[in-house]
Amino acid sequence: MSESRHDTPHLPGPSLWPIGFAIGVACLLLGLVLSWIIAAIGAVLAVAFGLLWARDVTRDVRGEVPDIDPETRAVSDTAAAVAPVAAPAPLPSYTRSRFLEASTLGLGAAIGAVVTLPVLGFTILPSFTNREESEADLGPLENFPEGQFVIASFLAHPSQGEVSRRTTFVRNNGLTEAGVPSFTILYSRCVHLGCPVQPNGPIDEQATKEIDGVELRPVLAQSFGCPCHGGLYDAEGNRRAGPPVRSMDRYTFSIRNGRLVLHELYAVGNVSGTGANATISKYPWSTPGTHVDGIEAWLYPIVPSQVTG
Ligand code: FES
Repeated sequence: MSESRHDTPHLPGPSLWPIGFAIGVACLLLGLVLSWIIAAIGAVLAVAFGLLWARDVTRDVRGEVPDIDPETRAVSDTAAAVAPVAAPAPLPSYTRSRFLEASTLGLGAAIGAVVTLPVLGFTILPSFTNREESEADLGPLENFPEGQFVIASFLAHPSQGEVSRRTTFVRNNGLTEAGVPSFTILYSRCVHLGCPVQPNGPIDEQATKEIDGVELRPVLAQSFGCPCHGGLYDAEGNRRAGPPVRSMDRYTFSIRNGRLVLHELYAVGNVSGTGANATISKYPWSTPGTHVDGIEAWLYPIVPSQVTG
């Protein structure tokens, strides 16, 4: 008497889906540290391979007929054809390997959620909360005489206290040809490794004032220097010497009710021209040491995540 294909339980062959799932999760976690592009690729891989893995594991539950080798299927079909009476369908059963596979999948998903959800929450949620704190009011425009730099020191996030103190070099450029107010607002953090850049010129300490928590100190600066490794920038923030990899970062600004308000930081590749007539190569803000233009930006594309200043 020939053996029916239902006489022996079907055992799943080795599957590569769990390996793909693990690689996806690893990419996702790595991407959260290095780059959102890698994190997105990891998320797609994890979801795709996870679904394929779950599909394999639940094949019996869904009543799907497993794939059988064509030669085996031919022999089995022949045997079934000559069998005089079809055997009754067996009740569904679950082997221990199936149970362990499903348990592993469930446990992996739970651990993945516990590890990734808090990280995602802490990294993404701040982007949608406390948006109003990204602004800094530097006070009335008359505190910024035209053509002169003023060192402005303020708290970027007052709720965080002194740890959020920032320093900028603000120059009122007057009006552009279109009649729009122009300001050069350089961020003092060096774009080499982040040391505090200093103005090369005397500070008028007598004229120092503090208004609404913002300290203002006029300075006669024709350039800016970094004491750490000798970085040198000109009055437009362009790198002139030393190891900095781009021009000094700048703030966007607006004028509200006659007051100068700072907004977001942005990175600068190069500045041609001066003051109100300057042409600025703008890029999304990036960490110190990161190239934003030229061939170096292609050679070193991965930027470690870091909170903005
Ligand atoms: Fe400024 Fe190195 S940190 S030159």
